[in-house]
Amino acid sequence: MAKRTKIIAGNWKMNKTATEAKAFVEAFLTEIGSFAGCEMVLCAPFTALETVHRRLASAPSVTVGAQNLHQEASGAFTGEVSAAMLQDLGCSHVIVGHSERRQYFGETDAIVNKKAIAALGAGLKPIVCVGETLEVRDAGGTEKLVRSQVAGSLAGLTQEQMAQVVVAYEPVWAIGTGRNATPAQAQEVHGWIRDELKKLFGAGVADATRIQYGGSVKASNAAELCGQPDIDGALVGGASLDPKGFADLIRAGAAA
Ligand code: PGA
Repeated sequence: MAKRTKIIAGNWKMNKTATEAKAFVEAFLTEIGSFAGCEMVLCAPFTALETVHRRLASAPSVTVGAQNLHQEASGAFTGEVSAAMLQDLGCSHVIVGHSERRQYFGETDAIVNKKAIAALGAGLKPIVCVGETLEVRDAGGTEKLVRSQVAGSLAGLTQEQMAQVVVAYEPVWAIGTGRNATPAQAQEVHGWIRDELKKLFGAGVADATRIQYGGSVKASNAAELCGQPDIDGALVGGASLDPKGFADLIRAGAAA
C-alpha cells in the first residue's frame, strides 16, 4: 500500500478580511514553527489570497488555496474568478463542489467536474468534495450517493490528472454542527470512495489518492479521525479560524 502524505486544509469560508488574514498567518506561522509533518493548505477568500500567499513565502509546507473557481477560462462572467487567475496569485489548491456550493449555488456533479478539469488545466490541485445529507443517510442511501458523486465529479479525468486530485468526504450533517462522523462512520465511507476510485481509475490511483474527512474536525478529534486507514487528512472549517487551535489540530492529525 502506498504511504500517503496527509493533507490538512483550512476552509475559512466567508471569513477574514485581508487584514485579518495577514494577522492569522503571522500567528499561525509562529505556532506551527518548523513543523512539516503533513501538507498544509489555507483556503482563504479570494480577497485574501494574495496576502496569504505573500506571507507564506517562508513556509514551504504551507500553501494557499481558493474555495471556488469558475469553470470557463475567461469571458463575460461578471463577478467570477478563473483558474488562471488563482494560479497567478500563487494558489496551489482550490476546493470544488463544497456542499455549501452545491446547496446554495446549485452546483451539480457535472459543474463540479468542469471546475475540477478547469483547475487541473491551470496547474491547480482540486479538492473535490462529496458527502450526503442527513435525509440520505437516514434512508440508507449514503453509499449510492457518494459513489455517484465521485464518479460524476471526476468523470473523464486521466490517471495523470488524478495524481493531482484530493477528495474530501464531508457529510453535510456534520458540517458546522459540532457533530462529527464517528471514526467508524467516516472510515466506512472512505472505503467506499477508495473502492469507487479503484473501479474508475484502477488500483494504483485508488491507493495513491488522498481522501480527507471534513465535518466538525477539532484538535480533540483529529487524531482518531485521521488515524483511520483510509482517512488521509482533514478539511477543516470552524476550527481553522484560530491560529493556535488550527496548529494544534494539524499536529494531532498529522501524527495519527
Ligand atoms: P466545519 O466545516 O469544520 O466547520 O464543520 C468543514 C467544511 O465545511 O469544510
